[in-house]
Amino acid sequence: MPYYSDDLIEEVRSANDIVDVVSDYVRLQKKGNTYLGLCPFHNEKTPSFSVSRNKQIYHCFGCGAGGNVITFLMQYDNDTFQEALETLAQRAGIELPKQEVSARAKQEADKRAQILEINKASAKYFYVQLRREQGKKGMDYFVKRGLTQDILKKFGLGYSNKYSDDLYQYLRKQGYEDNLLKDSGVVAFDEKRGGYDKFWNRVMFPIMDVNNRVIGFGGRVMGDGEPKYLNSPETMVFDKSRSLYGLNLAKSSRKTYILLCEGYMDVIALHQAGFDNAVASLGTAFTPGHANLLKRYTKEVYCTFDSDGAGIKAALRAIPILKEAGITAKIVKMAPYKDPDEFIKAEGAEAYEKRIAQAQNSFMFEIEVLEKDYDLKDPESKTAFHNAVARKILEFEEELERENYIEAVAERYHIGFENLRKLVMHQGTRIGIAREARTLKSGIQEKRKKEDGIKQSQKLMLTWLIEEPSLFEQIESYLGPEDFTDGLYRQAAEMLFSQYRAGKLNPAGIISMFADEEQQREIAGLFHARLKEITTPAEKEKALRETMIRLKENSISYRSRHLEPTDLEGLQKLVADKKNMQKFYRMEWGR
Ligand code: CTP
Ligand code: MN
Repeated sequence: MPYYSDDLIEEVRSANDIVDVVSDYVRLQKKGNTYLGLCPFHNEKTPSFSVSRNKQIYHCFGCGAGGNVITFLMQYDNDTFQEALETLAQRAGIELPKQEVSARAKQEADKRAQILEINKASAKYFYVQLRREQGKKGMDYFVKRGLTQDILKKFGLGYSNKYSDDLYQYLRKQGYEDNLLKDSGVVAFDEKRGGYDKFWNRVMFPIMDVNNRVIGFGGRVMGDGEPKYLNSPETMVFDKSRSLYGLNLAKSSRKTYILLCEGYMDVIALHQAGFDNAVASLGTAFTPGHANLLKRYTKEVYCTFDSDGAGIKAALRAIPILKEAGITAKIVKMAPYKDPDEFIKAEGAEAYEKRIAQAQNSFMFEIEVLEKDYDLKDPESKTAFHNAVARKILEFEEELERENYIEAVAERYHIGFENLRKLVMHQGTRIGIAREARTLKSGIQEKRKKEDGIKQSQKLMLTWLIEEPSLFEQIESYLGPEDFTDGLYRQAAEMLFSQYRAGKLNPAGIISMFADEEQQREIAGLFHARLKEITTPAEKEKALRETMIRLKENSISYRSRHLEPTDLEGLQKLVADKKNMQKFYRMEWGR
């Protein structure tokens, strides 16, 4: 680990019982050996978030989140590893030695913290200004736009007054140095003027991260003027491609989907109308970073973009990015109004709710946009459109999905189902996709299924060994870490076996050995496979036996395929293993 010794990390981790810590954030119910609750990392109604006191790890069967107590805090609070460790050390009364933190890392962390402080102080300053005499212009503007005092408060809205350096002076008085102020993005410098405010004479929208920390600002001119919105530059704490306006509130909405819109005012208007699940990207196009952020909270996103060309383009861009992240996208139509803000103002919340209910499937939306390029009254153009549709349908890899969309499109555009189907096949063979996709796909699927089965048995075995360490004795002579063929599984198995040999199993400690969050989560999954309800010893023996055989046969075949001709030792081990397995097939064990 970067800055603390493994021993120290382990000391901090083991001093914090995971069930106690998680209970501070999630309501848990004891069920057998584990504690169950609603997963804080995705939206759900039935608990699939499970925490094990024995193993000191958590795992969500729904979204795959998982790890140990350190990863939990990292995920929950969006903390860095250091931050999580510090919190836990403090919680357990362990003092972290200062000198172990590298000087540079500490400087960076300090600076981040100070920039956040400056942002917070600025947000407060703007907030107060809005409510003073000199902020009347701003207040009038917000009131004219129909915002209530409640919503102004909820979003922390403010006002930067007409003086161009009062915030700068204020922050200087608080003791912040110029170079720090420069990096915070709220102050700019030029040679003649020195320091001056980035924002003045604008209504201010503080931008919060999911933990309600102010990371930047948007400022709008009151009335017409350019630019309409001015935003903080990217700073150490502000990454536009990974931040979503309103997510700090939307993440605790009871709704299972997220409304994605384009503008600050849309988000605010929607929240005011009761749609507390609205978020927006910050004047930047939607990115995979945004999709990954959303993925932690929802599986379904309703795009409620402006009805103009830019809004359509934004939707066409967002759809594949959302799909790629495993999120279903739907399109909410705002026409004849410009955007959600205007829609709500004109038609009200109920009408908007109806639009949500009528939201369009994202593929059908894409086809609808495509249609605009063609003149369906002209036979030639119409044929070209049908061909284009057919090609687009080929993007679906699953045959059943293709069929369903052929049906939907045929009905919507009055094309005969069989005709369209033929056209899809034809286009497919023409570009060589359909056939290839089908054979390739089924080939890949077969292979994938088999791989999944093998991984699953490796996973089961690891979980079993952890839950019943006495099994080690029984399997030791047949099974070793080398039988786990996947890279990560192998590493985890090696550590587990060596812990067993050293006389102390500690799965949560293994997780800390991996620096990468993705790996930590996968390891937690490995150690927390769902074991079938096993009641009788005979059932158990059978299940163990099957798992063992599948695992071992795969390992033997894998090793024969990958054996170097000169690897005599490997060959001997393989032969011995095969023989050993013959013994195993005949043996009665497990009781
Ligand atoms: N935007 C920006 N800079 C601009 C214009 C727009 O950063 N010069 C971003 C803002 O995040 C804005 C979003 O793009 O919220 C959508 O722009 P637009 O639809 O023009 O603004 P609205 O949010 O609808 O604002 P308003 O209703 O106040 O016009
Ligand atoms: Mn608007």
